Amino acid sequence: MSSTYTASPFVGKTFGVTVSHLTKQFGRSTVLKDINLEVRPGEIFAIMGPSGSGKSVLLKHIAGLETATSGEVRIGEYDAADPATRDKVHLALVFQAGALFNSLSVYDNLALYPREHRLYDEAGIRERVMHALSILSLEKAVKKFPSELSGGMKKRVAIARALVMEPQLLLYDEPTSELDPVMSATISEIIATLREQTAVTSIVVTHDRSLAMSIADRMAFIMEGKIRATGTPADFKQPSDPVIANFLHPVVDLKNPRFKQLEHNYE
Ligand SMILES: Nc1ncnc2c1ncn2[C@@H]1O[C@H](COP(=O)(O)OP(=O)(O)O)[C@@H](O)[C@H]1O
Ligand SMILES: [Mg+2]
Repeated sequence: MSSTYTASPFVGKTFGVTVSHLTKQFGRSTVLKDINLEVRPGEIFAIMGPSGSGKSVLLKHIAGLETATSGEVRIGEYDAADPATRDKVHLALVFQAGALFNSLSVYDNLALYPREHRLYDEAGIRERVMHALSILSLEKAVKKFPSELSGGMKKRVAIARALVMEPQLLLYDEPTSELDPVMSATISEIIATLREQTAVTSIVVTHDRSLAMSIADRMAFIMEGKIRATGTPADFKQPSDPVIANFLHPVVDLKNPRFKQLEHNYE
């Protein structure tokens, strides 16, 4: 089935992402504070940081799902917050929990968005769904329901669903959360392989140090809504910033435990 697949003209074009002075307030709390980032076309860019630091909110701004209080996000030359950008750039967001519909089979989960938006006819949808499933070695799961899948398979199905969009910009929110180390490595391989095959610009929000260190071209640390540092994985092998060092290589210290020191208690 994948042999008959013809990629749309969208495939192969890549876009960079520029985040400029992005600030976001929810009520009185400022969760993103003057964020500046430059993600190059075709790059795998990892965003790391503690829980609650603003990673998912930042990703939603890039996906056009949140509007900035001030500042902006550009995808190539287009404003990420402008709904018309979706006609010019194919982007897909792989949600943290997968967000699969339990009442739908794997096939129907993948077909749902293109059907609702009438992107292709049913034959075109079938081609794309089967192609996406074959890329992730999920052909055998096509008739299964999410409840019948392992955690790792659910994540793969969520990525396959994003691929049906033929994305030029792929955003992943914690793609390895709740997976064991081997499954996490599998997901890292998938993200890197997809980038190799389609040159898709990939932004990966993650806690997973080994994912970021093994496949990211560059990475940024966000802490309390601010970018604390940006660099290549090699730059962070032995970070001089003690806060980043503690995040990447936390030492279990039973004499002086963190849960007794509230100022360090950011999970
Ligand atoms: N829609 C919202 N309304 C109000 N506060 C929000 C909303 N979304 C996120 N927040 C808050 O913004 C902060 C950053 O959240 P988030 O980006 O989800 O963190 P994480 O880095 O864990 O992904 C948190 O304090 C969270 O409670
Ligand atoms: Mg999050």
